[in-house]
Amino acid sequence: MKAQGFEKGIRGAVNGLQLDVNNMMADIVGPDYGITMEMIKAVGTRISLAHRKIEEMRKSGGLCFTDLPYQEKGLDDIINTAARISDEYENFVLLGIGGSALGPIAIHSALQPDYYNMLPAERRGNRPKFFFLDNIDPARTGMLLELLDDNLKGTFFNVVTKSGGTAETLANFLIFRDKLRQRLGTGKLSDHFIVTTDPESGTLREIALEENYPILPIPKGVGGRFSVFTPVGLFPSAVTGIDIHSLLAGARHMDELCRIDDIWENPAYLKGVLDYIAHVSMGKTIQVMMPYSHRLRDLADWYRQLWAESLGKRYNLEGEEVWAGTTPVSAIGATDQHSQLQLYLEGPNDKVITFIAVKQYPELIKIPEDFHEKKGISYLGGHTLNELFDAERMATQFALMKAGRMTSTITLNEISSYTLGGLLYFFEMETAFAGFLYGINPFDQPGVEEGKRATYDMMGRPGFEGKKDEVKRMIECGKPQYIINALTMRS
Ligand code: PA5
Repeated sequence: MKAQGFEKGIRGAVNGLQLDVNNMMADIVGPDYGITMEMIKAVGTRISLAHRKIEEMRKSGGLCFTDLPYQEKGLDDIINTAARISDEYENFVLLGIGGSALGPIAIHSALQPDYYNMLPAERRGNRPKFFFLDNIDPARTGMLLELLDDNLKGTFFNVVTKSGGTAETLANFLIFRDKLRQRLGTGKLSDHFIVTTDPESGTLREIALEENYPILPIPKGVGGRFSVFTPVGLFPSAVTGIDIHSLLAGARHMDELCRIDDIWENPAYLKGVLDYIAHVSMGKTIQVMMPYSHRLRDLADWYRQLWAESLGKRYNLEGEEVWAGTTPVSAIGATDQHSQLQLYLEGPNDKVITFIAVKQYPELIKIPEDFHEKKGISYLGGHTLNELFDAERMATQFALMKAGRMTSTITLNEISSYTLGGLLYFFEMETAFAGFLYGINPFDQPGVEEGKRATYDMMGRPGFEGKKDEVKRMIECGKPQYIINALTMRS
């Protein structure tokens, strides 16, 4: 099957998105360090099975994230509601965690200018300031309460939780709801909340119905980390004026490419299979995502969750114990050249590093020519920051290659809602495909349930009794000799 918008690349010539895996391949980096065609052939059956699984699931409606780029229903509602919120409020706050926060955060930092909240309103297109609360650290919630205190009337909250029952999100919701109720009165609550949640069930949905908050439904069958193209990601994006049609168009275009059954023409499959082989045949247990773009730093965090929660599985689909997955690490160029790179070059050869490069920036910043007599600085003058950024990425990749480390590069021609949509979808498909190569279910997260149950019991939630005592036993059986108390305040 052929799809439009695909062509074999020339390094450096990018029109959209380019995946370059040269530095993963044995014929480029040498047989001791790269993947051979024989290794790829050896997993041919797995590749076919994984592709078949994906196609079957698509047909049966069981791979819901693949339908999202084609959605039409509900988009107008998202855009119209977002436009109203954007006109009426000065602050927009997203309360959510995990897959209910990382996607919109990644989109926001990729597509909105740096220091967004500090810019004058006109520079933000007169859109609201944007705040995310995806933690329950009392200091952070407390600071946001303080920050919003003198303008609660001008603040709107989007509470996002697929299950409708996540403790962290509900706790923050209760805190801000209480504050609003005290300040503005119960009757005004529905003017300040919108809830993004399951279309049929959940505690938050019940509350929303009781208190008359509008509800944006997350389609059934779409799990948190695959929900970036649902109202979870689309609504907050639309509030700040991001073109969500174009975001979806990029995802659609990528989906067309991702239907091809030939790994050499399907970027998500190619990356998935190489990362899989690098792990199972070459011992690369760590996946580093290193964008050379500050705006894509949160995308690396989004990917970290997608990869970790989807692939880190104890059992395969046959119920056998497999302990699958590799550890995703997010880094950022050029900053982490001065933090992580030494380890990547000379530490254990257990990593695959994925660079994300951006070809065109709207900004071209010249480095002034100065200090002509000082060789240590004068060489920079006359170049641009853009050139320096690119040179550092290429030099880093070169050094890694010389050290026998595997790298691949994804280059975006520019960061736009279209290319970002394609990139997000690319990673979703790569992850799902890799999951099926491992033979696991990439869409559940059974491991995290134990900790959730223990939290519920410690907080007194009925129906979860018993866990608190187990936690207490763990604390009590600790030995004093393994504990050091330090920095005890002297009187
Ligand atoms: O990917 C997932 O399913 C999880 O990370 C969830 O997004 C996270 O636990 C938050 O869940 P919820 O959206 O139900 O509040």
